[in-house]
Amino acid sequence: MATQKDKVTLLMGCASGMGAATLKMLLADGAKVVGFDNNRENMADTLDEIVEEMGDYPGTLEMVYGDVRRAEDRRRALDLVREKYGTLDTLLYVVGVLDLMCPAHKTDDDLWQYVMDVNCNDCFYTVRDALPLLLDHEGPAASVVIVGSVGGIYGSTAGAAYVTSKHAVLGLARNLAWSYHWRNLRVNVVNPGAIISGILGNAMEKWPDRDVMDEEGNDLYNVRGGVSLGLDADGNSMMGDSEDIARAIMFLIDDDNKFVNGEQMTIDGGWTSF
Ligand SMILES: NC(=O)c1ccc[n+]([C@@H]2O[C@H](COP(=O)([O-])OP(=O)(O)OC[C@H]3O[C@@H](n4cnc5c(N)ncnc54)[C@H](O)[C@@H]3O)[C@@H](O)[C@H]2O)c1
Repeated sequence: MATQKDKVTLLMGCASGMGAATLKMLLADGAKVVGFDNNRENMADTLDEIVEEMGDYPGTLEMVYGDVRRAEDRRRALDLVREKYGTLDTLLYVVGVLDLMCPAHKTDDDLWQYVMDVNCNDCFYTVRDALPLLLDHEGPAASVVIVGSVGGIYGSTAGAAYVTSKHAVLGLARNLAWSYHWRNLRVNVVNPGAIISGILGNAMEKWPDRDVMDEEGNDLYNVRGGVSLGLDADGNSMMGDSEDIARAIMFLIDDDNKFVNGEQMTIDGGWTSF
């Protein structure tokens, strides 16, 4: 396995769940990380955890507070990378939000727009605006990883907006991988299954007046997949951990895996093997 030492990495969505787990692995491996998130409290908690759990880690970290939906916030993060390092080796788009399992007939404009923006449109803008730093990379290829979902490959694992947004980023990643494989850039996707993270808590904070899991949607979608992993023989939930996904991200950005491009890696404990 190649090292991430000194690799300049922009990590969008660094404050909880898979992003925070990936952040810790990157820092432990010596990467120079710019982490971006819109949750101040979780950013501070993650920083505390890093100090407590990792002490003197070999990497470096700058945190940028901002919302991916705001162009000026995204620009601030990229400006920091450009001004401080003048290059970008790795871009990780881990940001994502739930659609509360809402079926199409209950999805209002606000929910649709929000989920499509955060999960898909702002992912596109982020990668597009970073391309001048990523293309024609010196040495091993630059790397982009987008975190998708099993909702990006099947229709019945979330509501209408989430499933649409995650299908869309898969297409985006394939288009990018093909367009720029001539220009020393690799673009891959990780599709997580059900993972313990901050995503539910973040949705409850964003939509305090809505049901976090639409009852009808839960019945429509979850039964047919989301809880199919059920419990193990000891009665423990068979959901994955954020670290399970972080390890997949670390694999995809590893220079030793230079021929892995335009790929989607589904990490779901066997859920979609049914
Ligand atoms: N947890 C799961 O079961 C699961 C399953 C499949 C896919 N995913 C995907 O995995 C990715 C990571 O999710 P997670 O489960 O670790 O959730 P999470 O909520 O713990 O992490 C997402 C991060 O993105 C940040 N974020 C959200 N909206 C933002 C915005 N507008 N601007 C800036 N930052 C923002 C959050 O603050 C958070 O730190 C997402 O793309 C999600 O859709 C999650």
